[in-house]
Amino acid sequence: MSRLKSKSKFLKLYFLSRFFSHPTLNMGTIFVTRRCDRNCIYCYTKKNVDANQELSTQESKEVIDKFNEFGVWYLAFYGGEPTLRSDLADNIRYANNKGMFTIVHTNGSFKNIGIDEVVNAGIDVVDIAIDSITNPALKNYSEVKEKLERLIRTDVGVKLNHCITKENCDETTKILWLTEHYKIPISIHLGESSPLPTNINYDSTPFFKRGDKDDIQEVEKISRFLADRSRKSKLIINPPEYFEVWSRFIRGENLKWECKAGKSSLCIDYNGVVLSCVSASSPINLDGNALYYKDLNKSNINNVKQKIKESTLQCKSSCLSCTYMLENNSMMNIPRILKIVNSF
Ligand SMILES: C[S@@+](CC[C@H](N)C(=O)[O-])C[C@H]1O[C@@H](n2cnc3c(N)ncnc32)[C@H](O)[C@@H]1O
Ligand code: SF4
Ligand code: SF4
Repeated sequence: MSRLKSKSKFLKLYFLSRFFSHPTLNMGTIFVTRRCDRNCIYCYTKKNVDANQELSTQESKEVIDKFNEFGVWYLAFYGGEPTLRSDLADNIRYANNKGMFTIVHTNGSFKNIGIDEVVNAGIDVVDIAIDSITNPALKNYSEVKEKLERLIRTDVGVKLNHCITKENCDETTKILWLTEHYKIPISIHLGESSPLPTNINYDSTPFFKRGDKDDIQEVEKISRFLADRSRKSKLIINPPEYFEVWSRFIRGENLKWECKAGKSSLCIDYNGVVLSCVSASSPINLDGNALYYKDLNKSNINNVKQKIKESTLQCKSSCLSCTYMLENNSMMNIPRILKIVNSF
């Protein structure tokens, strides 16, 4: 898919969904796997599960059908590491044929599927996570440089995704240089502990700690810097206000935004259960049972959305992913949308 075609596809789908068709959902995320070839210390999504517990290619297509039935037009392939699935291109092609806008979030390893296969299947955007320039313990530019450059030479949209912790906060300027050098956009987020139960021991993660005097100073400095850069650069997708919230978050303020999970987005796990958001590790229950994608239908989808909304209350608005979802994924902010589209 050419970048121009992807841009117009995105805008068409966005405006149709916003002003004409009023779909039940806009955004769907599918965990095509929870396995990963890396081991990021902060990761809340990687799980060591057997490949045979994962949805088959056919089942993933059924998930896409369900999404399509509810009006999902923005489909994210998520993980774990999606490129460990050799059938990824099949699913991209399937979603593409249904007219959906597709994005894959990857660490750039492309171990079990080639770049060409993913590109030829018609992916709209490849989102590559880079946390460092050379540090081998982190997702680093040196390891993906060649693949990143190959992708940039194709006609698909390429963006970067960068997660800041104490371990790599001194590299932010260099990472921003990459986006300017390649003229590709970036979204930046702060490493954080999920407010939902996970299997991570957060004491050992290099996260900035809420309420810690030194960490507050450091994060305030970074957030001022990034807010300023975001005002000046078309390539930083997050709005300045998102970075400004980091300062309040790290000071431990009770942030009062409403989580939008479930409102217009739905997430399906590697084994087919319905999750409230990508940070959640346990399924949504309906009538006391874990809810599977196969159970979703037009008559219960509003109850499911209500259940997801209820489950978000336990997070007590303490999660930065919410602003991330709100600003980047909820598709409600038109200037922001245009910035995203222009950056493909
Ligand atoms: C979970 S990964 C899945 C896709 C792929 N493996 C990757 O690394 O991009 C998607 C994004 O979630 C981010 N992430 C994972 N754990 C996080 C955490 N505790 N805090 C903030 N971001 C996190 C990663 O940095 C990555 O950009
Ligand atoms: S590469 Fe992605 S999925 Fe894998 S451990 Fe790192 S953040 Fe998690
Ligand atoms: S507040 Fe919302 S986005 Fe954040 S972890 Fe909870 S449900 Fe997910």
